[in-house]
Amino acid sequence: MGDYTNMSDYYDVIMTSGYYDYPQIVDQLLKGQTGQRVLEIGCGTGLILEELAKRQSQAVISGIDLTEAMLKIAQERLKSYNNVSLSQQNVCYLNLPQQHDLAFSYGGVWYFVIDGDKEPFMVSHIPDHQANCQGLERVAQYIASGGTLLLGIQGPHHDYAKPISNGMVYSQKIEPHADGFTKHYFLNDGEQRLMAQTIQYRTYSFEQAMDMMGAYGIAYAPQENRGNLFLGFKKA
Ligand SMILES: C[S@@+](CC[C@H](N)C(=O)[O-])C[C@H]1O[C@@H](n2cnc3c(N)ncnc32)[C@H](O)[C@@H]1O
Repeated sequence: MGDYTNMSDYYDVIMTSGYYDYPQIVDQLLKGQTGQRVLEIGCGTGLILEELAKRQSQAVISGIDLTEAMLKIAQERLKSYNNVSLSQQNVCYLNLPQQHDLAFSYGGVWYFVIDGDKEPFMVSHIPDHQANCQGLERVAQYIASGGTLLLGIQGPHHDYAKPISNGMVYSQKIEPHADGFTKHYFLNDGEQRLMAQTIQYRTYSFEQAMDMMGAYGIAYAPQENRGNLFLGFKKA
């Protein structure tokens, strides 16, 4: 489930070649209240947390990620920020010393896809339904009452291949299926394949996602949306 080991060595160069815009993600994240205690779910190599820690030296920032190789890069990147703590964890068994005022995930465990006027749907890196419920329950447990959950918004996925900043070619292939889709990620240097990774994604309609979150006291709160990059939710 959601293991990024194969991609970890190439993740930063792929993502910073235009896949995500990290300064903009943090601009939007900071458009509303964040509170003191902030958690990123699926922090990967720490690209968002670095940008956040630079701008929010007073915040108490935590990041968790399933993939050890991704987290190692994050640990190196963030070692000079003593207000950031990282831990390797599967969100389904989340275990943290404190609750948070804000928890967020961008491209991490859960996100929403918005495709034009169609209703947003939720994408999960966790293929199993019970595990999704368990993960959402654990997240809810670590958001303080009245706290906020922000889940990233992405455009629809499609097949493509394009050169990245170092001249290598990143490509992806999507195979839809009944409960979601399979996404294949590749990186090639000329004819040589450097990286191949496959992730099984589960998808949920907006209504299904709201029911799942609602069971743990989390409700959609459009006033908490942050620009076009995050949907906002409140914990009762
Ligand atoms: C596309 S990366 C996003 C990383 C980071 N948020 C960023 O914007 O660069 C998705 C991350 O989610 C993590 N992930 C997937 N399933 C997870 C789970 N069940 N628990 C914790 N992390 C998970 C993966 O290990 C990966 O690092």
